[in-house]
Amino acid sequence: MDMSRRTVIAGAAAAGITAATIGSAHATRGRTPVKSLFGKLADGTKVYSWSLANGGTRMKVLSYGGVVQSLEIPDRRGHYANVSLGFDNIEDYVASSPYFGALIGRYGNRIGKGQFTLDGKAYQVNVNDGANSLHGGAKGFDKRVWDVEPFTKGSDVGLHLYYTSVDGEMGYPGTLKVKVTYTLTKYGDWRIDYAATTDKATVVNLTSHVYWNLAGEGSGTIENHELKIDASRYTPVDSGLIPTGELAPVAGTPFDFRRSKRIGEDLREAHQQLLYGKGIDHNWVLDKGISPRPEWIATLKDPSSGRTLRMASTEPGLQFYSGNFLDGTLVGTGGKVYRQGDALCLETQHFPDSPNKPSFPSTVLRPGQTYRSTTVHSFSR
Ligand code: GLA
Repeated sequence: MDMSRRTVIAGAAAAGITAATIGSAHATRGRTPVKSLFGKLADGTKVYSWSLANGGTRMKVLSYGGVVQSLEIPDRRGHYANVSLGFDNIEDYVASSPYFGALIGRYGNRIGKGQFTLDGKAYQVNVNDGANSLHGGAKGFDKRVWDVEPFTKGSDVGLHLYYTSVDGEMGYPGTLKVKVTYTLTKYGDWRIDYAATTDKATVVNLTSHVYWNLAGEGSGTIENHELKIDASRYTPVDSGLIPTGELAPVAGTPFDFRRSKRIGEDLREAHQQLLYGKGIDHNWVLDKGISPRPEWIATLKDPSSGRTLRMASTEPGLQFYSGNFLDGTLVGTGGKVYRQGDALCLETQHFPDSPNKPSFPSTVLRPGQTYRSTTVHSFSR
């Protein structure tokens, strides 16, 4: 998908790194992901960590929350860093994770007051964010243990993750059977394919909540990263971060990322929307809309290391969250404290509060239908 992928492999060779050490396509072809014990939940349930490597990208995934616990990519000199925030132990994930690296469901982002009406019936889902429901409620998919099945297919390696959410869980109707596939390609791309079916009409909005810092987790602010988002509009919110329903132009606002822009550039503008979000915590209306195949939507670059993340998705929306609630109370994988703005999230999704916004693309899933969504993360340097 990306010409720059060739430079990743060629660059590593130039830096004297052998194919085996970076896990190039050839070296990892057919290699099954490796499982190890990560820890135990309070009730004794074992949580496993799965290690995968392909095409120059290395990742560790937990059975708890489908969490990407670590994602390592090289910089322009071939030096690896873990570019995703996380913890080194299961206890911290359970006690205090702000969704680090996790799969989010049933409904990524917010539902106003946790209420919606579907086919004439009123539902109340779990409220866990002030007056609203966030990321599926107090015990969303990020806090569930998933069944994990490794695979190798041609030059791809990956994991299938399965979770069945019972009828009524967190207040949502229908038994929802979810399958998420993480694939690492021979180019080092990380692809996520989501699929879900239900036995009653329900709402679904699945996403992934990786906190990116392309200079390496724990290395400081992401304000000098440069970001481009292919979106001319965004969804302004009220003080509870629920969309007003308007699709507002980004032109002339701090939300204009149509050309690559330093994230810190407009972050301190006294714009009402930035005051509501304590920074950026907003959904962009992607120009491409819903697409049957993943299309390019955003590029994030750290000029200091050269590490670049390019994203493609089938989804119509992208939540860009500038790490506003990181407050120096969490100690990450490398032993460093995470402070405000030390990472950002780019969550591909349908728009927040869609169940209450008839004009937004629908998040309703009915029996007989299959929910599908795909997002690709392509790395270069
Ligand atoms: C999402 C939300 C934010 C915040 C983070 C986690 O990005 O939109 O408001 O809750 O998750 O802290």
